[in-house]
Amino acid sequence: MRVAMIGTGYVGLVSGACFADFGHVVTCIDKDPRKIERLERGEIPIFEPGLDDLVARNVREGRLFFTLEGAQAIKDADAVFIAVGTPTRRGDGHADLSYVYAAAEEIAGLIDGFTVVVTKSTVPVGTGDEVEAIIKKVRPDAQFAVVSNPEFLREGAAIEDFKRPDRVVVGTDDERAQAVMRDLYRPLSLNETPIVFTGRRTSELIKYAANAFLAMKITFINEMADLCEKVGADVQSVAKGIGLDKRIGSKFLNAGPGYGGSCFPKDTIALVKTAQQYGAPTRLIETTVEVNTARKKAMATKVADAIGSTDLAGKTIGVLGVTFKPNTDDMRDAPSLDILPALQAMGAKVQAFDPEGAKEAAHMLDGVDFKAGAYEAAEGADALVILTEWDQFRALDLDRLKLLLKAPVVVDLRNVYKPAEMVRHGFTYASIGRG
Ligand code: UGA
Repeated sequence: MRVAMIGTGYVGLVSGACFADFGHVVTCIDKDPRKIERLERGEIPIFEPGLDDLVARNVREGRLFFTLEGAQAIKDADAVFIAVGTPTRRGDGHADLSYVYAAAEEIAGLIDGFTVVVTKSTVPVGTGDEVEAIIKKVRPDAQFAVVSNPEFLREGAAIEDFKRPDRVVVGTDDERAQAVMRDLYRPLSLNETPIVFTGRRTSELIKYAANAFLAMKITFINEMADLCEKVGADVQSVAKGIGLDKRIGSKFLNAGPGYGGSCFPKDTIALVKTAQQYGAPTRLIETTVEVNTARKKAMATKVADAIGSTDLAGKTIGVLGVTFKPNTDDMRDAPSLDILPALQAMGAKVQAFDPEGAKEAAHMLDGVDFKAGAYEAAEGADALVILTEWDQFRALDLDRLKLLLKAPVVVDLRNVYKPAEMVRHGFTYASIGRG
């Protein structure tokens, strides 16, 4: 099959490369000339394990192309995917759909023969109807169907998630479009991946419901963690104890500094807005958003408590990890963007290390001194905060760390270390929900 992928951001690039790897001929289209130039040179603009090899192989084998000028690819395509950004609109919290609608107009002018137009971007309920209306208006004669096909990739594990998903969701009532989508995802039938065919609006909502539920699950365990600290219980055992119940499930029950990233914060807010607009408020999600926002700020107080004062003037805090999670260089809505400025506002000097995110973070975190490694970030600090659980922070040389720190205080916001072990090494150790 021939696929045109509009947008070479996270979703577009990973989906494009994986569809090519399934054997389809994929052209990825982007308006940013620098991005296309880099991709043509084989440089991947994002950090995603395995993506560089996957792209290189499929380019070499003639199935994956990058272009600024997508007209021909769109004309030739059996399916055109819209994978452009849907950022939070300034001021009102709704998803900004201007890029999606611009893509729809562009596609409309080019459709040639029956074409499936797929929204892969996360879009509010009803966006597919609007995309269809735009295309019909520009080209009343066009043969097409608009399909919702949300993606459930996690950054850092995106290729695995694309190739071995728990499910694929396809929203359309059009039988020809269903057949095209079935062909596109045919390689997944080998491992019996369920394909959920449903209506377009339902499919659009499934995406938001999935992310909101996961954000709520994390927020639930974070609140349990706070309670554990008060009553002298252990949140990791609570998570295990409830997670073994298959109705609850053990995943996404790691307590931490609050969820971040390019999806959960944006999608929960957008769902809240949509629900309010339709007069069916989602109060659980409203509370989730509120609790998570407050939590990130509360983490700075937790660090101050470990040091023993909210006046951090003259103190230096070392920070390990600033991205919203490991194996990505993505800084969007990372908890560090709230926690580090809050520490600075209390007077602290902050020095940090992140294996991949430092470059991006440097211009988002004013005044933070980025160091070349974990031990350098610890050197001379009055406390060390573990903020992102990169693998390389999991087996630090604790004796060396203790010698480097000015005061042996470690605040582990990801529960990487065992409290007893840290105490044995002579650290004052604070973690999440281990009372
Ligand atoms: C999330 C979803 O997991 C994907 O299924 C979805 O496709 C994607 O959003 C999207 O909508 O595009 P992602 O944002 O890459 O993926 O990251 P997650 O692994 O879900 O983590 C999100 C945040 O939750 C991170 O800050 C992470 O540290 C935090 N988290 C996650 C926890 O605090 N505890 C957990 O148990 C799990």
